[in-house]
Amino acid sequence: MMDQGEKMEVIESAIQPEKVALKKTEPADSDLSRLGNNLVTKFHVLMRISQIYDSKNVALHQFVVESLETINTLIQREGVLSLKVMKDDLFLNDQRLRYSVEGFTSFKYLLTQWKKRLIGEVIFKSLVEEEMLRDFIYALIHLEEGREDNLALLREQLTNRQITSIEVNPLEVVEGEEKAFTLQKEDHREIGKKVFFETIGTIKEVITHIKGKQHADIRKLKRLAQKAVHLVVEDEPILLGMTTIKNYDEYTFNHSVNVSIYSLAMGKRLDFSKKTLTELGITALLHDIGKSKIPREVLNKPASLSEEEWAVMKKHPLMGVEIVLNLKQLGEINPKMVVGIFDHHLKSDLSGYPKLFRKKEVSLFGRIIQIADSYDAMTTPRIYKKIPFTPEQALALMLRERTVHFDPLLLKLFIGLVGIYPIGSLVLLNTRELGIVYKPSHDPRWLDRPTVILVARNETGTAKKEMADLTETDGAGRYKRSVIKTLDPYQYHIDIAKYFL
Ligand SMILES: [Fe+2]
Ligand SMILES: [Fe+2]
Repeated sequence: MMDQGEKMEVIESAIQPEKVALKKTEPADSDLSRLGNNLVTKFHVLMRISQIYDSKNVALHQFVVESLETINTLIQREGVLSLKVMKDDLFLNDQRLRYSVEGFTSFKYLLTQWKKRLIGEVIFKSLVEEEMLRDFIYALIHLEEGREDNLALLREQLTNRQITSIEVNPLEVVEGEEKAFTLQKEDHREIGKKVFFETIGTIKEVITHIKGKQHADIRKLKRLAQKAVHLVVEDEPILLGMTTIKNYDEYTFNHSVNVSIYSLAMGKRLDFSKKTLTELGITALLHDIGKSKIPREVLNKPASLSEEEWAVMKKHPLMGVEIVLNLKQLGEINPKMVVGIFDHHLKSDLSGYPKLFRKKEVSLFGRIIQIADSYDAMTTPRIYKKIPFTPEQALALMLRERTVHFDPLLLKLFIGLVGIYPIGSLVLLNTRELGIVYKPSHDPRWLDRPTVILVARNETGTAKKEMADLTETDGAGRYKRSVIKTLDPYQYHIDIAKYFL
């Protein structure tokens, strides 16, 4: 048993300054992945530009030279450079490249354009020269979409031009893969991903502008919040699934978006109107905006904070209020939102911060955001706590603190929303299979019978697998599968987010 002091510390440390999340399950070469992302962006630009200009254009020359730099650096380092499309992922020399905020559009572009042309892999076997690369890109972009003989055509072009250092391979189509899982909800999933990454990018932009004392435009945030509201009403599991992307490099931005998603899902259960939901979404996105005024050393300190540093840290809700009130588009902000930001660390027993002179009720927005905030913070790896709590542990801990720290009714609602086995939990089934919780059952009687994605163990690379609804029974009325217990994904080296992207 933990004593009160320890418990406080755990909660406090869970909601301490957000730090850069650590990559856990794929401790891959981050330098290679950085170069990889760079390469994907370059490829994207090259393909786009060659669609617009002819091959002798000056603007094109510039981009070809820049791309060559990246490509040849990689070849010198790795000996060979292979860029491969597999399902919804891109692999650089067999290492899966992660999505990044800036890179998302380029990833998407490359994946779709190559797939449409049925080209699966490009290999650069030795150093490449300008003319070769330009010819190659032109040959690639001018392939007709969907033609079976594209690969043969492209290979023929390479031979004709005596380009021997570039090799191309067909798109590998995995038979019958994950049909039920992907197709049906593909649209919402695609929109979800887009909104998610765009919002992270926009939050980042807003914070950068505020730091630089520049004009920050939150109208774009409002538009994105409206899209998220639409999604949460239409297809909540898709949006909630996005919150499992915990190992994202830029934690602060990711955290704001996750808090917003959880808050919206709660607001939806409270029957908020779309307008109120949008306001709640924006408030949640901006809840930690005050941290942009906290010195980096304090924010990114890998050890515990000193008393003075804590005092600075605790100013962030108030600083957030100040920032929001100074925004140019003050018309987009209303008192509910301002108070929500002010309140988000104020506990029901008023033990949190800012310190108040007179007792006051914590606002509804504040109470909602608090729960979302603590849960996301606890379940995310940090510099000072590399292995985060599992969803189950985090909920248990929050439940223990319910009377002091959270609104007990809202907490109950939140648990109902994430389920006994929250979305993204790794579970062991009585069939000895591993499952990742995809969505809780709609029927409250079956809170312990979510729909899971079955995971094959020791599997590498492949992400999405078969789905199983745990309420399903066999002919004799027995459940086909049941959860035995939850497991820690870090111990099993499973990247949960992969199953939701
Ligand atoms: Fe905060
Ligand atoms: Fe926060």
